[in-house]
Amino acid sequence: MIRVMSVCGARPNFMKIAPLLRAFGAQGGFESLLVHTGQHYDENMSRLFFEELGIPRPEVNLEVGSGSHAVQTAEIMKRFEPAAVEWRPDYVVVVGDVNSTIACGLVAVKLGMKLVHVEAGLRSFDRTMPEEINRVLTDAISDLLFVTEPAGAENLRREGIDAKKVHLVGNVMIDTLLANRAKAEGSDVLERLGLARGGYVVATLHRPSNVDEPEKLREILGAFEEIQRESAVVFPVHPRTRKNLEEMGFGEMLGRLGGLKLIEPAGYLDFLCLMANAAAVLTDSGGIQEETTILGVPCLTLRENTERPITVAEGTNRLVRAAREEIVRAYREARGGGSRVRRAPRLWDGKAAERIAAVLAADAAGRR
Ligand code: UD1
Repeated sequence: MIRVMSVCGARPNFMKIAPLLRAFGAQGGFESLLVHTGQHYDENMSRLFFEELGIPRPEVNLEVGSGSHAVQTAEIMKRFEPAAVEWRPDYVVVVGDVNSTIACGLVAVKLGMKLVHVEAGLRSFDRTMPEEINRVLTDAISDLLFVTEPAGAENLRREGIDAKKVHLVGNVMIDTLLANRAKAEGSDVLERLGLARGGYVVATLHRPSNVDEPEKLREILGAFEEIQRESAVVFPVHPRTRKNLEEMGFGEMLGRLGGLKLIEPAGYLDFLCLMANAAAVLTDSGGIQEETTILGVPCLTLRENTERPITVAEGTNRLVRAAREEIVRAYREARGGGSRVRRAPRLWDGKAAERIAAVLAADAAGRR
């Protein structure tokens, strides 16, 4: 049996880990254990995703909670080490680019375990982003690196990572999207919010670079204010953003906007339904750029760079500087429709996790 310990911690990890656990089960020969670091812990940032995506209850929950980067990362490392020592996995699988990814990765390699990074190689080339540091460091110490798009493999080659470790396998987040798309259409979220198919916009914001600076946030909210005069805007508010909106005194202004619907962070199925039926999505998320590409919904990414260039080259994504007028202009262009070529990136076909399980099985056989 190949012993695999998989790690998840924050919201975008859950939809990546779900198909992997299923693929390890289907492939056979794996003994699999799930660790939740507890980086995200709210009902609707964590538990709801386990339920909706059928993720088994984690055998280990480290319950680290929130903290500064140093505190959170250190706390995850301290609590993950004894769990890894006790269970002695052959492989530790980490996904994405959150603090849980690097923290558990670092512990694993120092214990002599093989580290597997799923969604490796993505680079924004912006080292002020905490996720970029997590990506570069995790990739530097990984033994097997699974990549979603060709640019990822190229970035790793440039950083001197042995091509033998790198596998372009597609996108596990899209595995989950394709597996749940029909089910999400059954969500009653549009009725609950009084929205018509194709008649509203979805907005999400949580990047520190957008929501921690009042001036930047004011620009973005100013754009939302203009857009909601033309079309309903649904804005599921991330906990970090909610805190800042209150502390920076934007609450009252937002409350006056009749077309803007601030809601709690949505579950997976409701959110997928919201995205799939939206006229456009405004976001600073990483994963949403990929999801809208597959859904064929225009995505305006309120950032100056993206680590997922294929979503711009082949998908529906467009980068927009977080300035009021630029956002409104890009929104109107998106609604006006364009003649942009759209296609699903190669291997974003729902089978990425299967490919990963097969590579892992072959790797393990080669080491025996
Ligand atoms: C983290 C990831 C980011 C990812 C995002 C998705 C890192 C460095 N960042 O950012 O890449 O896109 O998750 O959401 O790992 N909070 C709650 N309840 C929760 C979780 C968080 O109230 O369940 C609040 C806390 O006040 C916390 C803040 O949100 O301080 C930020 O949480 P944290 O995990 O530090 O980072 P995110 O901004 O969520």
